[in-house]
Amino acid sequence: MTYLAPLIARETQAFVAAHPKSAAQAQALQQHWLSGAPMHWMRDWASPFPIVVEDAEGATLTDIDDNVYDDFCLGDTPGMFGHGLAPVARAVAEQMRAGATYMLPTTLAAEVGALLAERFGLQFWQATLSASDANRALIRWARAVTNKPVIVVFDGCYHGMVEDCFVELRHGRTRMDAGLVGQVSDMTRTTRAVPFNDAGALEAALAQGDVAAVLCEPAMTNCGMILPEDNFHKRLRALTRKAGALLIVDETHTLSTGPGGATKAWGLEPDALCIGKAIAGGFPAAVWGVSAEFAARITLWTAGVPAGALQQATSHQDDPLSPAGTPAVQGRSGIGTTLAGNAAGLAAIAATLREVATEDAYRSMLSGTEKLVAGMSEVIVRRKLPWCVVHVGARAEIVFAAAPPENAAAMRAALAQRELNHALHLYLINRGILIAPFHMMMLVSPATSEAQIERLVAAVDAFVGEAG
Ligand SMILES: Cc1ncc(COP(=O)(O)O)c(C=O)c1O
Repeated sequence: MTYLAPLIARETQAFVAAHPKSAAQAQALQQHWLSGAPMHWMRDWASPFPIVVEDAEGATLTDIDDNVYDDFCLGDTPGMFGHGLAPVARAVAEQMRAGATYMLPTTLAAEVGALLAERFGLQFWQATLSASDANRALIRWARAVTNKPVIVVFDGCYHGMVEDCFVELRHGRTRMDAGLVGQVSDMTRTTRAVPFNDAGALEAALAQGDVAAVLCEPAMTNCGMILPEDNFHKRLRALTRKAGALLIVDETHTLSTGPGGATKAWGLEPDALCIGKAIAGGFPAAVWGVSAEFAARITLWTAGVPAGALQQATSHQDDPLSPAGTPAVQGRSGIGTTLAGNAAGLAAIAATLREVATEDAYRSMLSGTEKLVAGMSEVIVRRKLPWCVVHVGARAEIVFAAAPPENAAAMRAALAQRELNHALHLYLINRGILIAPFHMMMLVSPATSEAQIERLVAAVDAFVGEAG
């Protein structure tokens, strides 16, 4: 028996005792939902069955057994600005009354395009239902306009339900990720994985001249949290430009950095952006954006201009091939879904950008995160733990390593402490605290109170005291 086993057994019993109604629901869910829930990730929590939600507001969630939780998971990011956002609820309800989706734009569409361009610095946008769809579209377009087959990603990445990104680096070689269900093509033929923060490996991966795009998060957030080293992004941009590869930045999680994401805050210069999850305040919508030059190349590709001539592309508004007026593709392109760009989703994005993801909201998120990081760091130092805390903006992560790992290979040892991870998550749930179930991610919303942050820090401290 391991040293945490008695604590886990005790906490599991306590969870069952405190959740009789959720337990009954779990039985019912087993009857007709594969995995016992509408989506199998809902079973990834440390509890023996899922908490069934009654209500959520701001950073507080209540279950059907009347247990109340401080929510630092926030739906694993869509709720970054809090649950039950009044401006988003109002905007979506109004739009639903006028019809949710028409395969036609509303007047809001022009405004949302302008808001996205102004905030994130890229000129042309498309809407999707998820960040996964946005990444898939960008990968497809990058390959089309460059006429190159290969995508480079960073070892340990996750960019959604995107087959091309399901690779990892083992013993210096790109391998298929074993988690990719039902895949019959060998993704390693067209995707290369390189270690994050390793400009030399990146240069080598780009050297054959066959790379359409590098797809990255500004800081890696799905393999613990790995921050970029000084100058890494500068090198990444210079190397992609030199190799003629596009740079796609996935801001889905790092939108926590500031109103324009890490791209604005850190002065990144991507050719394309993917932004999902919180961009519509929790409503299912996402966007992808491209620079004027990338857009012009898309338009030229559509017009049948060969790849070699694409470098000459311009973006003048009066150019007959201008991306501003010409549909990028028509009909069956393999890009786009029926409900993508629906009016209700755009209403949710407009409300989020105008009234929710404001400078004030970020000020409160970032100052709350400072308190959280300071509190956790104090516990780690006082308790002499071989842990550290890293954060990008309002997204913080406890890492079970003495210093922040610089890449996924280094992070894997920390992530391998599965029992510790499980025990701490379960302990927190039983103390009324939710953090993301997958690793130790804690998100601070504008609604998160100082008292909630103090409770989280105190609960981690108490866990360490009890676990020994
Ligand atoms: C960085 C990143 N990009 C994209 C996605 C995919 O988002 P979605 O599941 O909403 O499609 C995720 C999901 O966790 C993500 O972490």
